[in-house]
Amino acid sequence: MTARPVGAGPLWLIGCGHMGGAMLRRWIAAGMAPSRVTVITRGPATVPAGVRHLTALPLDAEPETIVLAMKPQQLGDVAPTLQGIQPALLVSILAGVDSATLAQRIAAGAVVRAMPNLPVAIGQGVTALFSESHDAAVRATVEALAAPLGHHEWIADESLFDAVTALAGSGPGFVFRFIDALARAGEALGIPADQAARFALATVSGSAAMAVEADVDPATLADRVASKGGSTREGLDVLDADGALVTLLTRTLDAARRRNTEMAAAARE
Ligand SMILES: NC(=O)c1ccc[n+]([C@@H]2O[C@H](COP(=O)([O-])OP(=O)(O)OC[C@H]3O[C@@H](n4cnc5c(N)ncnc54)[C@H](OP(=O)(O)O)[C@@H]3O)[C@@H](O)[C@H]2O)c1
Repeated sequence: MTARPVGAGPLWLIGCGHMGGAMLRRWIAAGMAPSRVTVITRGPATVPAGVRHLTALPLDAEPETIVLAMKPQQLGDVAPTLQGIQPALLVSILAGVDSATLAQRIAAGAVVRAMPNLPVAIGQGVTALFSESHDAAVRATVEALAAPLGHHEWIADESLFDAVTALAGSGPGFVFRFIDALARAGEALGIPADQAARFALATVSGSAAMAVEADVDPATLADRVASKGGSTREGLDVLDADGALVTLLTRTLDAARRRNTEMAAAARE
């Protein structure tokens, strides 16, 4: 299909659960006109005031943009209902469904894959983006949708999407686990559990905020707080021994990436 211009036209959001709902709330909070959006789900959905919600596709004018936010396994139900509809832009957040599959199932001017993570709900997420299209208007429209969600970046090579999903998509789960482990380790040294939990959370939150503000990378920051012969260095030596932490996290990301690849293969069948 040839690309049509895209901008601030009608947007259909198909699926509005945890992720679709979080994205929609951020878009509206960032100033998107609610009247621009039609949410389509099979059952009831809570949508911001002024947003139209339907349980079947509307019969009125074609949307400029369709955002797919149902489960990947729902593509087989949703795609046939979109036959004959040709949005200028199709944005999919379906994990594991590649852009070739999307383009084959839905006739859109441009197809964009987006992989948001959970903190988009508070505008501090990460959204990885990929498209074969280099149309400046397409990219600008997608960036305008991604900006209210937090940090966003285009991925040059779609084959890296599963790895990026493992790092940024699953990353919040790994970080939550780390915070819990830090608290449990403190507890093991005798700190009351509730206090250890508060200290661990505030330590990770403050350190992350500091790393964001710093003009050097986290590895340098770690070395700066760890003076030779000091206690932080003694602890870092445990994490660094034989690359223990990097090895563990590489195995962690690799397992998540492998599962993403398996699910992608299942979605193509
Ligand atoms: N949660 C995450 O952290 C995350 C991160 C990145 C990407 N994703 C992707 O986001 C997508 C949604 O995940 P989620 O966690 O938000 O799922 P969810 O909470 O279960 O929401 C799914 C939504 O899709 C609707 N839906 C299901 N089948 C439909 C159909 N045939 N037509 C129209 N709407 C339909 C559901 O409403 P009804 O049942 O009423 O139809 C619901 O609103 C998935 O593809 C996932 O891969 C999620």
